[in-house]
Amino acid sequence: MFTADDKSLRQSWLDAALSRFAADNEASMRETRTLLESIVQDRALHARLINTMSMLEHMGSHKVMATCHSATIDQATLQHVAEEAHHAFFMKRQAEKCAGREMTYVAQDLLAPASARMYFQRLEALVVRLLAKGRGSRAAYLYMSMIVEFRALWFYGLYEQCLKRAGYAMSLKRLIGEERHHLNDMAQRLELAGDLDDARARRLLDAERRLYRRFLGALKRATA
Ligand SMILES: [Fe+2]
Ligand SMILES: [Fe+2]
Repeated sequence: MFTADDKSLRQSWLDAALSRFAADNEASMRETRTLLESIVQDRALHARLINTMSMLEHMGSHKVMATCHSATIDQATLQHVAEEAHHAFFMKRQAEKCAGREMTYVAQDLLAPASARMYFQRLEALVVRLLAKGRGSRAAYLYMSMIVEFRALWFYGLYEQCLKRAGYAMSLKRLIGEERHHLNDMAQRLELAGDLDDARARRLLDAERRLYRRFLGALKRATA
């Protein structure tokens, strides 16, 4: 268990890391906001964007499953899988509502799908490479999830603001609450295992930022 001091230490690390993330992504924030604003105005594009988020959530839940299939899988990890799978379902339902038809994960129902998949795969390869020395899949799972949650929280926050401004009836409150909980949980579990390392997290977040920039570029081209 954490003492009050440990908890506040972790919280202050997370707070600092979150503000650094926001500062490092300022240019991307403006570009992402502009892009989201134009997509939300176009029903067909918007449905494809939501379906793409559904696919990413689905990939996320699948990756958690794939890295944590051992007999020692714990309650927190099972909850994580269940929540990411629910996010995929939620987004799929919203995408189909927006499109007024069924949507699948095929190219014409998605936005920049190759780049979306590449974002995940390259990030995962990087995490595995960096953590390969002496650590099992557990640390890789925790780091991968933590890094992705930084982006998820940031992106969904922007998207929610954009939906509100456009008067679009879709609330991300529960989803954002769960992503925030995942981020805290991953940081806590890494810290408990003695694996929470600021330099390593920075390195991974820097790499993630470059991968996100590429994905953002592909999204812009797909909607131009
Ligand atoms: Fe999620
Ligand atoms: Fe999550």
